[in-house]
Amino acid sequence: MKEWYNAIKEAQSLSKLEEIRIAVFGKKGVLAAEFAKMKSAPKEQKSQIAKELNEHKSALMNEFTARKITLQTLELQEAMKAEAIDVSLYSTKSEAGALHPVMETMDRIVEYFSSMNFAVKTGNMVEDDFNNFEALNLPKYHPARDMQDTFYFKDEMLLRTHTSPVQIRTMMSTKPPIRMIAPGAVFRRDYDLTHTPMFHQIEGLLVDKEGEVSFANLKYILEDFLKYMFGDVDVRFRPSFFPFTEPSAEVDISCVFCKGEGCRVCSHTGWLEVLGCGIVDPNVFKAVDYKDVSGYAFGLGVERFAMLIHQIGDLRSLFEGDIKLLEQFR
Ligand code: PHE
Repeated sequence: MKEWYNAIKEAQSLSKLEEIRIAVFGKKGVLAAEFAKMKSAPKEQKSQIAKELNEHKSALMNEFTARKITLQTLELQEAMKAEAIDVSLYSTKSEAGALHPVMETMDRIVEYFSSMNFAVKTGNMVEDDFNNFEALNLPKYHPARDMQDTFYFKDEMLLRTHTSPVQIRTMMSTKPPIRMIAPGAVFRRDYDLTHTPMFHQIEGLLVDKEGEVSFANLKYILEDFLKYMFGDVDVRFRPSFFPFTEPSAEVDISCVFCKGEGCRVCSHTGWLEVLGCGIVDPNVFKAVDYKDVSGYAFGLGVERFAMLIHQIGDLRSLFEGDIKLLEQFR
């Protein structure tokens, strides 16, 4: 028996102690074996042996319980040491993030048109020839297709060159009247100070009964919108051409850098071009099978707005992910 007292005292872990417990107190343990042997002992010795065995049993149990408490305390202390958190340690500072200036500008534009009850629509970045060109009065081999350097896939699929295909998708899937804007990424094969292969546009389309939408309506909302974005600027409409609008105009604001005096940014004209717009061409309505309606449409480049608002000189810097630059617009 002696060796079991020592074994219990010297057990170094709770799992070792548990092994010993089974070996001593278990059904097939030493105590059980001793009690079994007792049966074959001479009658007159039996009660003495039982007495001794029971004394051993309770003494061993006491040792066991004491060792168990000691080991539990030790293991808890070790665990606490290992998992301790040093609350006096300096933490690393985490910087607050912010919206990218392009997204922030996009949000502001969307906010304006949402307040005017324009619904926000999205289309597909991978488009087909019909939605991007054909239905917008740009038939195959039309010279105006050259205005938009297109990335083509196989089978007349392409990366949309503008958000105007969302006009077509919306009209094909809903009945008039329509009041929508379409913010999103567009793609052109172009790369210099003011062009990147991917940029963002916001398209606008309003369609109502024939004769109920005029150029004056278009002029009013765009002037109001541009003053909302740029403050107290002058706005002018210049006759222009887009295949999907007739008449068409480009819209300029007085230069936000030189207040119209003339500077490098506005090429000394005093004006900055910010928008394309016009009255929806009847051929577009024909393509989507709309009858007895009239409408206006406009499209703008979000990066251009962001550059003018934040006075950024190189468009490409908006896509370099340079934290130092982006932090300035937080
Ligand atoms: N889709 C034209 C472009 O990308 C912009 C535009 C949209 C012009 C709607 C007129 C009307 O240049």
